[in-house]
Amino acid sequence: MSQTLLITGGAGFIGSHTCLVLLEAGYRLVVLDNFANSSVEALRRVAELAGLGPDDPRLQVVAGDVRSAEDLDRAFRQAPTPIEAVVHFAGLKAVGESVAEPLIYWDVNVVGSQRLLAAMRAHGCRTVVFSSSATLYGLPEQVPIPETAPVQPINPYGHTKAAVEQLLRDVATSEPGWRVACLRYFNPVGAHPSGRIGEDPNGIPNNLFPFLTQVAVGRRNQLQVFGDDWPTPDGTGVRDYIHVMDLAEGHQAALETLLGAEPQQLTLNLGSGTGHSVLDVIEAFAQACGRPIPYSVVARRPGDAARTVADPSLATTRLGWRTRRSLTEICRDGWAWQSANPSGYTR
Ligand code: NAD
Ligand code: UFG
Repeated sequence: MSQTLLITGGAGFIGSHTCLVLLEAGYRLVVLDNFANSSVEALRRVAELAGLGPDDPRLQVVAGDVRSAEDLDRAFRQAPTPIEAVVHFAGLKAVGESVAEPLIYWDVNVVGSQRLLAAMRAHGCRTVVFSSSATLYGLPEQVPIPETAPVQPINPYGHTKAAVEQLLRDVATSEPGWRVACLRYFNPVGAHPSGRIGEDPNGIPNNLFPFLTQVAVGRRNQLQVFGDDWPTPDGTGVRDYIHVMDLAEGHQAALETLLGAEPQQLTLNLGSGTGHSVLDVIEAFAQACGRPIPYSVVARRPGDAARTVADPSLATTRLGWRTRRSLTEICRDGWAWQSANPSGYTR
């Protein structure tokens, strides 16, 4: 019998792609999501891509909140076999919103994680992979950034990620048996190559890639480039963009490593190790979609760093994982999704 995993936030952007990779690897999944920032349609399409029928027990969906002990208990009890590990994606992720609404961010991200860990203990499950973020590094002094760089977040969203990492370390240290991986993602972008699942942000996108794809498909007039006077080769900000399928495979590698090893705590960067500027991304996307991307240069965005790029070598050593997909593939697959679904999942 294959192993069962609980995936919180599994209907979201990264969660849906990871669910597909895990189903294809033979796991059974219970997804807990309150659909605050996602659609049940994403999971329907994940099932379809994995070749599962509508009520296939290999993918069970619990509509519920990660802050609710009752909903968590329901998810653990509904599993066809005891849950071996949890992948914890559920959370809120908009930096600007976190500045305006810190209480909500601490509630969902930190209280939600605390309730999840309590439910895991109650059900005898002590293996967890957590969605952390490169946002922890704030304005980094050293690039490429190793995991040993100081944790110095500069906004409430980053503070909640740092708090949950600490909570996980405290819990893992308090009793034997915990297997914990904190995965610090750099900039997840792209989509499944089928174009059936992808990123579908609510409202105006905060991030470069979804904004760009919406300009390309005609939903928005033009992209604003936040500054061309940064100390980078072309003056625009440089980031480490990681294809969401590479990221999904990183979660599979982390789970396999944890489930096959002694109890341990891992903290790993998931990135490509390569930086691309805003103008590089605009150019690559224009090639992929066969049309120019209108843009204008405006002032820098407060809180941005000039350059953030991962040192991903520890993830390669510990997980045997590295990114395989290029910026060209990121843009090709992102366009496959946005062009086939101009309004996303239309929730
Ligand atoms: P997403 O918003 O697409 O997915 C998050 C999912 O969690 C959604 O399906 C949402 O409905 C669900 N959710 C939110 N609050 C919930 C609650 N209280 N109970 C149950 N479910 C809830 O975001 P994503 O891009 O897929 O990110 C997944 C995780 O990765 C998040 O924790 C995020 O902070 C982290 N992360 C994302 C990025 C990024 O740039 N996308 C970078 C670093 C880290
Ligand atoms: N940018 C623009 N125009 C836009 C949006 C972004 O020029 O409309 C620029 C930014 O200035 C930056 C680059 O594009 O130079 C990337 O910006 P994103 O907003 O896409 O990504 P960030 O690196 O700023 O931040 C994102 C998440 C953070 C997370 C980080 C690393 O928002 O929460 O990736 O995971 F911490």
